[in-house]
Amino acid sequence: MTVKIKKCSLEDIQTLQEISIETFNDTFKDQNSPENLKVYLEKAFNSKQLEKELSNISSEFFLICFNEVLAGYLKVNINDALSEKMGDESLEIERIYIRNKFQGKGLGKYLQNKAVEIAIRKNKNTIWLGVWEKNENAIAFYKKMGFVQTGAHSFYMGDEEQIDLIMTKTLI
Ligand SMILES: CC(C)(COP(=O)(O)OP(=O)(O)OC[C@H]1O[C@@H](n2cnc3c(N)ncnc32)[C@H](O)[C@@H]1OP(=O)(O)O)[C@@H](O)C(=O)NCCC(=O)NCCS
Repeated sequence: MTVKIKKCSLEDIQTLQEISIETFNDTFKDQNSPENLKVYLEKAFNSKQLEKELSNISSEFFLICFNEVLAGYLKVNINDALSEKMGDESLEIERIYIRNKFQGKGLGKYLQNKAVEIAIRKNKNTIWLGVWEKNENAIAFYKKMGFVQTGAHSFYMGDEEQIDLIMTKTLI
């Protein structure tokens, strides 16, 4: 069994776009209307948007491969790229997605550990994220990783306002 993590560059944009759409769709299609999902996918994962995010020096994307097969990805933000004003001492996990058939093999934990490693290296004292209140699996995973709920914010899926829980993990 081999697990490899690779930092994304602009060259990986198509791979990133494909895995972003696949994993978002698989995660949320059963609890959202096709119309709202389509609007979100087009807005969040169009090439221009991903190019902008990949070019932002305050964001980093990583692909994870399991036995040489693409299994998931991670996006972390600091400073100006933070989705919420949580302070320059924090790092945000904006996206952590493992493809369906690779879930439950420790890869989510591997990516979470990668985020912790980056945060420590950059002298951050907290890691935080927003997770949809109805995404019970992810919430259970984050709790297992030591995150606790510290707030909530609104999030728009198409025209539907949803609540994201803010979960935080203190590093020191
Ligand atoms: C949530 C997600 C990232 C977790 O990754 P994963 O690879 O499936 O999880 P892991 O195998 O690394 O599990 C790590 C630990 O969390 C626990 N865990 C994972 N999912 C869990 C669940 N639904 N309920 C309880 N515990 C869970 C595991 O048992 C494991 O515990 P251990 O360290 O004691 O062995 C992954 O399932 C996923 O991508 N889901 C769909 C996308 C998503 O919802 N992303 C988050 C958006 S905010």
